[in-house]
Amino acid sequence: MTKVITYGTFDLFHEGHYRLLQRAKELGDYLIVGVTTESFDKARGKLNVVDPLMTRIENVRKTGFADKIIIEEVQGQKFSDIKKYGIDIFAIGSDWRGKFDYLKEYCKVVYLERTKDVSSTMLREKMRHIQRIGVIGTGRITNRFMPEATRVSGVNHQGVYNPHKASAERLAKDWGIQAYDTVEELFDDVDLVYVAAPHQYHYDYVKAALEHGKHVLCEKPMVLQKAQAEELYALAAKKNLVLMEGIKTCYCPCFHKLLGIVMSGRIGTVRNIEACFTKLENPESRELTDRRFGGSFRELGSYVLMPILKIFGLDYEDIRFESIDDENGIDQFTKVSLRYKNGFATATCGLGVKSDGRLLISGTTGYIVVPAPWWLMSYFEIHREDPNDIERFSEPYLDSGLRYEISEFLHRLDEHPESQEKSLSDQESIALAGLMEKFNEVHPPKVDAAEEEKGTKA
Ligand code: CTP
Repeated sequence: MTKVITYGTFDLFHEGHYRLLQRAKELGDYLIVGVTTESFDKARGKLNVVDPLMTRIENVRKTGFADKIIIEEVQGQKFSDIKKYGIDIFAIGSDWRGKFDYLKEYCKVVYLERTKDVSSTMLREKMRHIQRIGVIGTGRITNRFMPEATRVSGVNHQGVYNPHKASAERLAKDWGIQAYDTVEELFDDVDLVYVAAPHQYHYDYVKAALEHGKHVLCEKPMVLQKAQAEELYALAAKKNLVLMEGIKTCYCPCFHKLLGIVMSGRIGTVRNIEACFTKLENPESRELTDRRFGGSFRELGSYVLMPILKIFGLDYEDIRFESIDDENGIDQFTKVSLRYKNGFATATCGLGVKSDGRLLISGTTGYIVVPAPWWLMSYFEIHREDPNDIERFSEPYLDSGLRYEISEFLHRLDEHPESQEKSLSDQESIALAGLMEKFNEVHPPKVDAAEEEKGTKA
């Protein structure tokens, strides 16, 4: 008996899938089909799969070609399945030509010609109106955002706005998009807006975009005052629009896994959290020269506070900020200590101090450590009393990791708001704005009125 195996996502089951399975079956006597799980697809960067696993399995079953259906959950599984099931032929579409030659040592590898002009990606794009995205701001983060958005199906770059037209034109040229003269013209041509201007302009841009009926993804910190955050979320709700704060770590698969583990009590009751994020920034950078809105806390505070608020919640009993400033009064290094009823937390950030950027979560039965740079999280460990008792977990973090938040942003457009599980709730985002405001109270910018008036948006 000749045993054949093939694998796929089989999303929105189509003729190409049918013909592939038919020909795979014809290669032998017994066909095993591996259908990928959602988490495996996410891990390999295939976001926005529409059909749930059970539907995809059922569609494969209905063809009558599969003698056995298995699920593909982890990298490296193909190799072990081939051994486990005594496979003679590994078959896959020709879009994978060459990619599985390494399996030739164990069985025959056959690349079947792909059916032309049909794919799940094409069907997904047909199903969904392609969202046109407009970006505001052209800094470093926008340059990371642009390629990441192309990794998520369902969006197209439309245009860019920056009051410094030359910067907008440069980005527009690189990406073959339009540079707009006014932000209103940009709003008229897009469905979604990504705000990545300097923090102090976020509020105005987000508000204007929402008022124009556009969904908004805004870089962190979204705003620097609690009342502004409350107002913006209320406006978004009133207009039935999605507003999301982009703290990228919060949306990545490994952080979701970590939260699940912490919340399930695997390290007992959490008593202490330490989160640190430092980078040695160029002294000429905006972050270290803007006396009013620069500094390490405004730049990095959202990251280090985020896991604390997610795990301990919003009801801290006491908070203390300590900063070391440079000669311009800009905080180079800030430590925030929070006291909760049954636990402590420390959030440390620095632009002129380098430290070990790890996340440490200590509980009553063990601790979790995410090594530096924890904010690009792809690995963590659980340690217990016995130093040899270490559990290791990993999930991929692809490229600059913005694809995860973009993907959630798009999912939120599709679903009913009541059924949405948000990685960062509106209340958490509002609380973060409140902490920015508190920092401002204890660490007011040391800048005179004339200087305050200076500066142009984006
Ligand atoms: N396949 C095919 N012809 C097509 C589409 C897919 O022969 N037109 C094959 C693939 O090569 C693979 C299997 O069907 O062997 C399952 O592919 P899958 O990735 O699930 O389908 P795609 O339509 O390629 O999905 P996507 O667009 O999401 O990549």
